[in-house]
Amino acid sequence: MIKHEQIEQNVGLLIVLTLLVVSVGGLLEIVPLFFQKSTTTPVAGLAPYDAVRLAGRDVYLREGCYNCHSQMIRPFRAETERYGHYSVAGEYVYDHPFQWGSKRTGPDLHRVGGRYSDEWQRAHLRDPRSVVPESNMPAFAWLEKTPASEGAGANIEGKMRALSKVGVPYTEADFAGAKKALEGKSEEDVLVAYLQGLGTALKTTR
Ligand code: HEC
Repeated sequence: MIKHEQIEQNVGLLIVLTLLVVSVGGLLEIVPLFFQKSTTTPVAGLAPYDAVRLAGRDVYLREGCYNCHSQMIRPFRAETERYGHYSVAGEYVYDHPFQWGSKRTGPDLHRVGGRYSDEWQRAHLRDPRSVVPESNMPAFAWLEKTPASEGAGANIEGKMRALSKVGVPYTEADFAGAKKALEGKSEEDVLVAYLQGLGTALKTTR
């Protein structure tokens, strides 16, 4: 029989047993989430990103918006009063990878969809201080000058096909129309489309 004292005095054994306890505990918490309905089923009304919003999402990733913005409203009053209904797992089912983020230099964006007009979003991206004088968000003025099909939207069909491999239910018609959907659109257009769709799938009373 190993006594507690022996474990505490033997660093090697202590490390091995600690790792064992942490792994078992972690697995018990994490593994069920992969099979639980509430975390794997999309909320009613959630559709996969269409080609335009998917390209916009890629602009969001490339520009590192997630370094300053989270997309995860926690179930606390201070958050729901400010941002709206707290985020639920079923809203992220088609996000690969999800954009929860970990830092809020700026506000959470999970329910920013529809909060402002498209014009506001464009003005804000070109020059944040033109609409929010105290803002310290950088300007992204070049996005309006880059065609989406040459920038973040290049090979959009390939990206959609890759996503379908991890379970996003795109159809052949989605693939076929993807390139055309980006025609004539700038990176700013697709980013605004992405932002305006954020958090709008969950139907809530407020
Ligand atoms: C250096 C940090 C930083 C980066 C990077 C950044 N933002 Fe911001 N963002 C802010 C701050 C601070 C605010 C709050 C002031 C304001 O509204 O401009 C903000 C506000 C916003 C708002 C308005 C949110 C609201 O509810 O009022 C949107 C939309 C937004 N950012 C989108 C973006 C997008 C899209 C990107 C990437 C292209 C981005 N931000 C990159 C800091 C940042």
